[in-house]
Amino acid sequence: MSDAAGTPLDPTILSGERRQVTVLFADMVGFTSISERLGEEGTFALIQPIYALMSAAVKESGGFVKDFTGDGIMALFGAPEALEDAPLRACRAALAIHERLAAAVSFIEALHGVRPQMRVGINSGLAVITHIGGEGGPVTAIGDTVNLASRLQALAEPGTTYLSEATQRLVQGLVDSALAGEQTIKGKTESQKVYRLNGLRQGATRFDAAVGLGLSTYVGRERELDLLDRALAEARAGLRVIDIVAEPGMGKSRLLYEFRQRVADKQSFILAGSCSPDGQQTPFLPFIEIVRGSFRVCAGEDEIVVARQLALGLDALGLRSPENLGLLINLLGLKPPDGLLAGLDGVLIGLRTRDLLHNLLEARCRLSQVVMLIEDLHWADSGSQEVLDRIIEGSANSGLIVLHTRRPEYEPSWRNKPDVTTLLLEPLPAGDIRRLIQLRLGVDALPESLARQVIEKAEGNALFAEEILSFLTERGALRIIDGNVEFGDAAAPAALPASLQSLLTARVDRLAPKDRGLLQAAAVIGRRFNPQLLAVVADAEDARARSGSTRWRVGGVFVQARFGSRRSLSKPADQSPRGPAFEDR
Ligand SMILES: Nc1ncnc2c1ncn2[C@@H]1O[C@H](COP(=O)(O)OP(=O)(O)OP(=O)(O)O)[C@@H](O)[C@H]1O
Ligand SMILES: [Mg+2]
Repeated sequence: MSDAAGTPLDPTILSGERRQVTVLFADMVGFTSISERLGEEGTFALIQPIYALMSAAVKESGGFVKDFTGDGIMALFGAPEALEDAPLRACRAALAIHERLAAAVSFIEALHGVRPQMRVGINSGLAVITHIGGEGGPVTAIGDTVNLASRLQALAEPGTTYLSEATQRLVQGLVDSALAGEQTIKGKTESQKVYRLNGLRQGATRFDAAVGLGLSTYVGRERELDLLDRALAEARAGLRVIDIVAEPGMGKSRLLYEFRQRVADKQSFILAGSCSPDGQQTPFLPFIEIVRGSFRVCAGEDEIVVARQLALGLDALGLRSPENLGLLINLLGLKPPDGLLAGLDGVLIGLRTRDLLHNLLEARCRLSQVVMLIEDLHWADSGSQEVLDRIIEGSANSGLIVLHTRRPEYEPSWRNKPDVTTLLLEPLPAGDIRRLIQLRLGVDALPESLARQVIEKAEGNALFAEEILSFLTERGALRIIDGNVEFGDAAAPAALPASLQSLLTARVDRLAPKDRGLLQAAAVIGRRFNPQLLAVVADAEDARARSGSTRWRVGGVFVQARFGSRRSLSKPADQSPRGPAFEDR
């Protein structure tokens, strides 16, 4: 495709894209009087290291500093690259800014005679993201979402972070926060609820947050649970590994949760650990959680108590030695007493830790059957992958069952080993989604238009069904009155819930630029499209190369599309003009 002058149009150019983003503003309290006191050079000397500190906090949390505003910063999370957990990352950055500044404040005071504090405001929502001056130029975000973040920052108490209601909703259960009141904000007709961010809930996942808020009644998945039950029985004779694979929201964590309830009374010893999006920076993250859980070490416990717990646990497994104790203390991020790891450098400590984790598991398996649950392997660090690889390689007769979950984009090296069964979670059938809606709303009957809309949009994804229901309720399109559902079809918003926008956009962003361009073109045409039309809109060769082999879920239209079959593209004459242009699953 080309423009009027015949120049080929690059479909990947970001000339302006509406995106779900999280915006953070940080600003120094009392900057005017500070700069009056210090003069220009003095202010510059003061602000330089503070900028550096704030930039580092934003960068380490996965955001980017869009602007330095004289006495503060504006940072974006989720643009230009979408991040499914952008609001949580912004919260992490805000807390780091306050903590690091507080840690440096005495030093700053000694140098400059002032004790600076920041105010931070965070908001999430849609904004237009564009590159100033075209592709390659600086990225900027435009829209009301940005303005509200700035206003919240101005309202925040010194040394605190204020969250908008939209951000609060997206991080609920993952952070500790408190309502800081309702505020009238310039430019907003209605008063806004504002929340003060107090801290992060360490290790909390979206599923933990869902447990806290109340899970939907479990529907379907009988076949999968049967398979897990059978594997548990078989594991008494030898190793079994169940590799649970599905796209986000399909119910991997929930399946493990349900299975865990079932095995609770079966005298199996349960070890559970999760990988996290930032976990690749923490070696052995899921095993840290496993060691904490199995040695009963609580967060924040005194180092002496932790060392005692670890020593007792090693004793029980017949593995007590000064070095092993030192390795475990070190694994939990504490400083081992002098001498325990004498003569070991970082590399050796890593290698011996791998050995020890393997030995610990083997020793535990000699005592009883062990069920090991590892969540979100797609985020695993390389050390954890190696430990798992060795466990799966070497535990042929150990009476161990390993259940791990992952998204399809990651494939573990051991997936084709004989003891490994891959369990692909297919989308839930329409009947199960219908029951999920009914049970969640607590009603006997559903308006057909509501059932149809949710089933169609959710495409068998339980998370999508839940989020769409919450979204419709929040927007006033769905109400339960005396046990009956009132659904205002016309009032139902066409937009996606914010919680799903980032999830979908993050997946689209991971595609190669040309694939993304093709996908955007398809999304513009609509839910159903003719591959020939797409080939014209995008690039015939590209479309042909991808035909029939690529399946994408398109953000914004919830479509799982296959770009025609090879046959329909190579023999366009075979196609009936009004026939289906893509195959639904
Ligand atoms: N069969 C089901 N019945 C009822 N609710 C379900 C079912 N499966 C999943 N859910 C609910 O859907 C939501 C998403 O499920 P879950 O967190 O298990 O997805 P996931 O596959 O682990 O996603 P991710 O890859 O993002 O971790 C949860 O609130 C969960 O309770
Ligand atoms: Mg999960």
